[in-house]
Amino acid sequence: MNASHTSDPNESIDTTLCILGASGDLTSRLLLPALGQLLMEDPHRRVRLVGAGMDDWDDEKWRDIVRKSFASAKAEGDTVKGVREHTTYRRTDITDSDDFAGLLKECQGRVALYFAVPPAIAAKGCRALEKVDLPEGLILALEKPFGSDEKSAHALNEQLTTLVPEEQIYRIDHFMGRSTVLNVLGLRFANRVFEPVWSNEHIESVAIRYDETLGLEGRAGYYDNAGALIDMIQSHLLQVLAVVAMDPPATLDAVDFRDAKGAALRATEVWDEDAAAHSRRARYTAGSIDGRDLPNYVDEPGVDPSHDTETLAEVTFAVETSRWAGVPFTLRSGKALGEKVSEIVMRFKDVSHLPGGFEGSTEPSVLRLSLGPDRMSLELNLNGPGDPFHLDRASLEAEFGEGERRAYSEVLEGILDGDPTLSVRGDTAEHCWRIVQPVLDAWRSGAVPLEEYPAGSSGPKGWPSLDNGAAVEKHVTES
Ligand code: BG6
Repeated sequence: MNASHTSDPNESIDTTLCILGASGDLTSRLLLPALGQLLMEDPHRRVRLVGAGMDDWDDEKWRDIVRKSFASAKAEGDTVKGVREHTTYRRTDITDSDDFAGLLKECQGRVALYFAVPPAIAAKGCRALEKVDLPEGLILALEKPFGSDEKSAHALNEQLTTLVPEEQIYRIDHFMGRSTVLNVLGLRFANRVFEPVWSNEHIESVAIRYDETLGLEGRAGYYDNAGALIDMIQSHLLQVLAVVAMDPPATLDAVDFRDAKGAALRATEVWDEDAAAHSRRARYTAGSIDGRDLPNYVDEPGVDPSHDTETLAEVTFAVETSRWAGVPFTLRSGKALGEKVSEIVMRFKDVSHLPGGFEGSTEPSVLRLSLGPDRMSLELNLNGPGDPFHLDRASLEAEFGEGERRAYSEVLEGILDGDPTLSVRGDTAEHCWRIVQPVLDAWRSGAVPLEEYPAGSSGPKGWPSLDNGAAVEKHVTES
């Protein structure tokens, strides 16, 4: 194709974003639409895009993928067009140092290498980089899972810091780019009415829940070796917990914000240090969701039943700080459930004294923050119409509207601007493994049964509802 309709954006490039694993689903479905959105928002960005992968593609094939992905984000304008027309593809084996060196020679300006490849390949790629002359300021962006346990995450961190300093390593967790997660900061810190009650003095329990209606979606190769605990709780939901539980940082810059998150996670451990008593796991069986039939998980192509992979996980954690001691944080996530429920639920304590004479609802107040669609509600007991001594449940609701930014746009912006605030710091990535390790051990030893639930249901029978907060019954009263 003749690439001369637009001025050549390669002339004065600030950053080359080089996507490793260019032919993968993550690239076309999430990264490229996010890039398109950023380029449209700020047409002054001087970005060059390079795709690299093992497929024998030419530039035309790659440009076609880029065009479709940008179109899916309705990304238009001269800058979008320029990047699309001048992007190139290079067949590269990133585990081979010479190949990698050749790829880096094609990049201009500050280079960001985005590893959109499985973690084992990313680790091999980083090893290959040890023998390559690296450009100044090189950024390394890595997708989750970061390692496969605390030890391997530590080893990967050591390896990465021999290549570039920590500030240039971006461990991606796209939940940190979600508008609702960031809204928690505004709600807490910009409203005097919330921050003073954000502690064990007033909060009884916290539930962070991400129930999905999607099943395996052909991802057995990855998911059957991860499961819900590693796929969602070890990474995304612990990051959300950190934002909810952290002490107020002085600023929201990368150092203060990540210090505050890191301190909260350093203080986090399984409730009562008893993973067998405070975790649950289950796997879906055949069922249907919105008229869509799903097979039994173990009959999905590529699944090995001997892995005992859970598709629904729930764990209660304690954050051992003076602010949160005694408050259970229950994190749950699962696939093939009947309803999509993604929310943070903060359940308040009972009032210290309810004057005699009231009737009706005396349920404690509940603050609910939905993670897409972005919405918050504060459920309260109010004097309803009619008898003024009768309390009715009422809900103050606010819609945040659809976040204008995609989560991946927030994350990519950090990479392009050299701001690691939303990426996971190395020590924190290791702590997230340390936190879930007792659960993995308890499950592997068989101390927690692998239960079942039909696809399309709300989970196994007998699991306490998290609708109004954490499962305090099992986790507190009985322990
Ligand atoms: C991914 C998990 O990181 O996050 C998926 O691997 C999960 O299993 C997804 O479905 C959920 O995030 P989102 O933003 O797609 O709802």
